[in-house]
Amino acid sequence: MSVTAAAQELARPAVDAVAMPGSGRLVDLPWNWEIWLLVCLGLAVFGYAYGLHRLNAHARSRIFGVLRMTSFAAGIITLFVALISPLDALDDQLFSAHMVQHLLLMMVAAPLLVWGRPAMAFLWAFPISTRRIIGRLWVGGGLHRGVHALMSPLVVWLLCSMVLWFWHLPGPYGWALANEGVHTLEHFCFFITALMFWSLVIEPFGRRRLDYGSTLIFVATLGVQNGLLGALLTLAGHPFYSAHADTTAAWGLTALEDQQLAGIIMWIPASVIHLSCLGILFVLWMNNAEREARLILSARAHAPSSLVLQRYATVVAIAMTFALSGCERHAAASYWAISGAHADRGPALIEEYGCAACHTVAGVATARGLVGPPLAQFGHRAYIAGVLSNNPDNLVKWLRFPQSIIPGNAMPNTGLTDQDARDLAAYLYSDRAETGEK
Ligand code: HEC
Repeated sequence: MSVTAAAQELARPAVDAVAMPGSGRLVDLPWNWEIWLLVCLGLAVFGYAYGLHRLNAHARSRIFGVLRMTSFAAGIITLFVALISPLDALDDQLFSAHMVQHLLLMMVAAPLLVWGRPAMAFLWAFPISTRRIIGRLWVGGGLHRGVHALMSPLVVWLLCSMVLWFWHLPGPYGWALANEGVHTLEHFCFFITALMFWSLVIEPFGRRRLDYGSTLIFVATLGVQNGLLGALLTLAGHPFYSAHADTTAAWGLTALEDQQLAGIIMWIPASVIHLSCLGILFVLWMNNAEREARLILSARAHAPSSLVLQRYATVVAIAMTFALSGCERHAAASYWAISGAHADRGPALIEEYGCAACHTVAGVATARGLVGPPLAQFGHRAYIAGVLSNNPDNLVKWLRFPQSIIPGNAMPNTGLTDQDARDLAAYLYSDRAETGEK
């Protein structure tokens, strides 16, 4: 008799034989090697890795970096544990195991994946021709408008709340456990709404849809609902769901204890994640306020003219642009001279710093990116990124620190040196970037 068998023999009298956890039960918990799940996970990993592989090394390390790549990998591993490991079979037997699975899907896998910036990597996995078609559909086909509407904070908030309460009603819950297809639908609803939720919280595309203060309220109000449901399950006097009634005993739990355990799992660990998230958002909020205050102060130091005067100057500039548009081509050369800058280094820098991945730039054949706006006719613009008046100082500032100017926008700080930024700015203002002609 082996040592473990002997130990089991000794332990037996202390516990009811049927209630022994693991008394042969683990054998009944197979891995879930469902083919479509494996294909989906495989495609996600391949798309991400291949997209990163096609980006140049510089853009890869700037836009993604080791942390984001690790985060994506950790997200995939969490999905694997939640959906493929024996945990998936255990969730049919124990409500508490089912809760752990949901927690992994929504509160661990989803934020890790979102933070890994998968959309951007997947886009790069496609060849340029397909990327153009996607770009056209995105802008012209109304796809962008559809996603924008679907991702509005109110819609996401309502969807998350509805999905949370609906699937915990005894009817739909039992229905999901009785029918594999419905069970998949349940997980799909939870996972998709969690991805939407975390996309708004962590890194909205382009700019933040919600300022930090509103994001705090957004997270808190959904977190409270989650905690409320957890408390309800923990404190209830009778089990709500009959689906697990016959299987909990084998794990040494009554149905009510199993439900209490599930409630605590929903209540405490989920609240810890929500509260940590609120803490981080609060710190970001304060940092951002400080940064904005500093930007305003430095803008005042650089431009003593009042805002009214600035606006007036902008209006005059726009009017003159219209007036001169007839002789535009000839006027183009003399927008802004930047002393000590070498505009001819522009195209090489645009490739080296990965700008080409996101922008279309005249005169640079590889720069066909559609993530950011095309950088043509830059000298004609009144504003840079819609917020800074267009002048060389501001352009250099934007190129070097876009994240300080619009935190959370999709253009990363690329680590440009001052000289490189000045050379790039000179190129963007030059005739060549205007026309694409050498
Ligand atoms: C990951 C994608 C990405 C990379 C890399 C990137 N940008 Fe951008 N860029 C954007 C996005 C998105 C915007 C729009 C930001 C906004 O308006 O909030 C933008 C805006 C700009 C603008 C202002 C455009 C306008 O219409 O006002 C300029 C100029 C610019 N980028 C130049 C560059 C240069 C030069 C580089 C390389 C050093 C670069 N970008 C790298 C995504 C990117």
